[in-house]
Amino acid sequence: MEQLDLLVTGIGRLVTPPGDAPRFGAEMNEVIEIETAAVAIHEGRIVHVGTEAEVMENLRGVTIAETIDVGGRLVTPGLVDPHTHLVHGGSREHELALKRSGVPYLEILAQGGGILSTVTATRAASEEELYKKARKSLNEMLLNGVTTVEAKSGYGLTTTDELKQLRVAKQLHDTHPVDIVSTFMGAHAVPPEYKGRTEEYVDLIVNEMLPKIADEFLAEFCDVFCEHGVFTVEQSRRILMEGKRNGLMPKIHADEIEPLGGAQLAGEIGAISAEHLLAATDEGLQEMADNGVTPVLLPGTSFNLGLQNHARARDMIDKYNLPVALSTDYNPGSCPTESIQLIIALASLNLKMTPEEILTACTINAANALGRSTDIGSIKVGKRADLAIFDAPNIKYLPYHFGINHTFGVIKNGQVVVW
Ligand code: NIG
Ligand code: FE
Repeated sequence: MEQLDLLVTGIGRLVTPPGDAPRFGAEMNEVIEIETAAVAIHEGRIVHVGTEAEVMENLRGVTIAETIDVGGRLVTPGLVDPHTHLVHGGSREHELALKRSGVPYLEILAQGGGILSTVTATRAASEEELYKKARKSLNEMLLNGVTTVEAKSGYGLTTTDELKQLRVAKQLHDTHPVDIVSTFMGAHAVPPEYKGRTEEYVDLIVNEMLPKIADEFLAEFCDVFCEHGVFTVEQSRRILMEGKRNGLMPKIHADEIEPLGGAQLAGEIGAISAEHLLAATDEGLQEMADNGVTPVLLPGTSFNLGLQNHARARDMIDKYNLPVALSTDYNPGSCPTESIQLIIALASLNLKMTPEEILTACTINAANALGRSTDIGSIKVGKRADLAIFDAPNIKYLPYHFGINHTFGVIKNGQVVVW
């Protein structure tokens, strides 16, 4: 190598999970820490990482196009947010008083509000309006240090409107520095025109939506809200298996409010991930562990819904040896925040995760929930050069000093996109 695109120096402390595989249970605490570090980047990939002295030694005789000095700050892999409902119309601040007066989340949905209120707004919005709104959120995520985001459909609930949401996600991927990974979630709620005819709506998903989406390569994953009064375990199984047949890997909103058996289903069908899991049983967690399912935990949702219970992260890590991931669940109802840094604080406070576990859960394990652990999620030679630069001395500082944005800069695919 005679040429180098970018050299990142002046890294006070570099912290990253090792390797390119998910980290299970206790392994989540084993992170690599390098003081006075440097990262060399060429053609969007990491070509050297180590102490500044080691990297400089490797770069003897090499022409360096650009050098940036991060001024002694903390550098981690770009964060990965593996569960969001990024593209949608409208907002639901009118539900706040209802929620605070104790009306349950599923009750608001049963009354035609909640997700269905966002469905009305999303159907009414043009692609351009959806793009503008989602882009603003995506900017916010990037400013939080996030470089890859999963985005679900599920507020259209007609073939046309689901495709509209997924096209917007694709357009964002093509035009914004943050990479978007798309998930089809036509089974997010039963639309009003199918009220009382859930089976017929499932037929529509299976016979019309899934083949069209697969045909146009508009999603990599398929997700279902498996919950009492929404989609049963049987309906979820049918949709996810049909998704699989169409080349879409299964994900599932499982056991969020009631222990319906979503975690078991995730294990049974070999889902890549199961999300929420507040009410997951021991049997469900064991089934996930036995079948390599990644739990994606969303502590912002239990916080914002004012729930007393939280996902059992400690059991998942200590007892079931699971590769826990964290995410915002950004959506206009149960968790209207783009801030992964708030989630980091809540994971510490309510899930009792250590700072090392949290970093692993927001990087390599989150990448694994998207099938991308060999490409992103750690600072390793050969991987995509996605870095977050924080104005913090170490990773313990991130959940400790809460409520502010610690990001100083972001490098995505070897480009400085926030500084
Ligand atoms: O992950 N639980 C279902 N779906 C979302 C909430 C969507 C909404 O309320 O608009 C979730 O929490
Ligand atoms: Fe969700």
